[in-house]
Amino acid sequence: MTATILVGAQWGDEGKGRVADWLAAQSNVVARFAGGDNAGHTVYVGTKVYKLHLIPSGILHEQVVCVLGNGMVINPVNLVREIDELEAAGVSVTPDRLVISTRAHVITPAHIALDKASEKARGEGAIGTTLRGIGPAYLDKTGRQGIRMGQMRDVEAFADALYDGMRRANESLVHQGMEAVDAQTGTEAYLDAALRLQPYLRDTSVYLNEQLRGGATVLCEGAQGTMLDVDHGDYPYVTSSSPTSGGALMGLGFGPREVSRVVGVAKCFSTRVGSGPMPTELSGEPARRLRGTGENFWDEFGTTTGRPRRCGWFDAVQVRYAAQVNGFTEMVLTKLDILSGFDELNIAVAYELDGEQLNAAPDTLSSLERVTPVYQTMKGWTEDVSGARRWDDLPAEAQAYISRLGVLVGVPVSTVSVGPEREQLVFI
Ligand code: IMP
Repeated sequence: MTATILVGAQWGDEGKGRVADWLAAQSNVVARFAGGDNAGHTVYVGTKVYKLHLIPSGILHEQVVCVLGNGMVINPVNLVREIDELEAAGVSVTPDRLVISTRAHVITPAHIALDKASEKARGEGAIGTTLRGIGPAYLDKTGRQGIRMGQMRDVEAFADALYDGMRRANESLVHQGMEAVDAQTGTEAYLDAALRLQPYLRDTSVYLNEQLRGGATVLCEGAQGTMLDVDHGDYPYVTSSSPTSGGALMGLGFGPREVSRVVGVAKCFSTRVGSGPMPTELSGEPARRLRGTGENFWDEFGTTTGRPRRCGWFDAVQVRYAAQVNGFTEMVLTKLDILSGFDELNIAVAYELDGEQLNAAPDTLSSLERVTPVYQTMKGWTEDVSGARRWDDLPAEAQAYISRLGVLVGVPVSTVSVGPEREQLVFI
């Protein structure tokens, strides 16, 4: 049992990148299992900032082999760009360091056009997607008409498949009253990308099972978060994949007996980008304080889209639900440092709906949109905690806050991050 699954416990952007970076240091293989370049991990190493969308941050550790699993949808042109940028920064991304599933699906320019058209057609009810073509690519996958990365091995057949996909998308776009995509647009870049990526393609399920049998330590790096899961999240305000622990097995192709640890990452408060319910959302000054100004890369602005994130108090009802869906064995809480200076901190411990107190979220969107949080208020602290490295370094109020979150969620908190740098972690 040598696999660890790392997943977001909220709406994505929990700071998984930095946790993955820390866990990758103890791993041989780091594998992504769902989503595509809708994700964005920011990793800070010394003075360098890396923004990764497709390649796991494990690539920054020399001993690690990274895997893009079958559950992913991949924009090959953007992947090649990411490889080139990493190589230019001195990080080796050769086929012995990056392995791409032949079963992962390809995002085409048609998918991106369809994503935009679908968001436009929804008007006020738009999901607020990242417009990276994620939903339409998964729609083609489950509709059994997608293009798999393995098809790149035969570039001519791949070109035909791309052309067919564009033609189908154009029919749909025109039907929706939108402009058709030029079927030649970007095709050349896709064919170049196919040639570049051929040496990286493999049956990654076979590869991972071999590695696990040989005793390798595998980190399954989730993108997005539990509340964006297509089954378990706030449907329809979700992404089109399963970023939860069950999705890791499906998206990588090995069995549950291999998994020893499921690490849930949550911020010490809540953030969300895109539309959908967020019971503890704040406005005004407290939200601005949690969000930051956007001057620092760790401020609450999307890595992929640059959108300001919605900010709110920690929602223990929601994270408790995530713990249940994923089976967390431990929690990592991030960004404790941002809470310094608040006189008081609120934690949602229950919801109220039509005068009734609920200890779990209702399972219909229309009810969830009407709940109001029941808060427990805790005393804040003024001390800067960014230099803390041990539990005893934290002010008593911060200790009480963290302990309370662990009790409310029902999962032990193993680690707290107090800043963006690698060493800014408090192990409990
Ligand atoms: P899509 O994944 O681009 O289709 O977007 C669907 C929803 O998931 C939108 O609300 C996005 O803002 C959200 N989303 C997708 N990827 C991420 C992520 O990496 N972090 C946070 N939110 C995300």
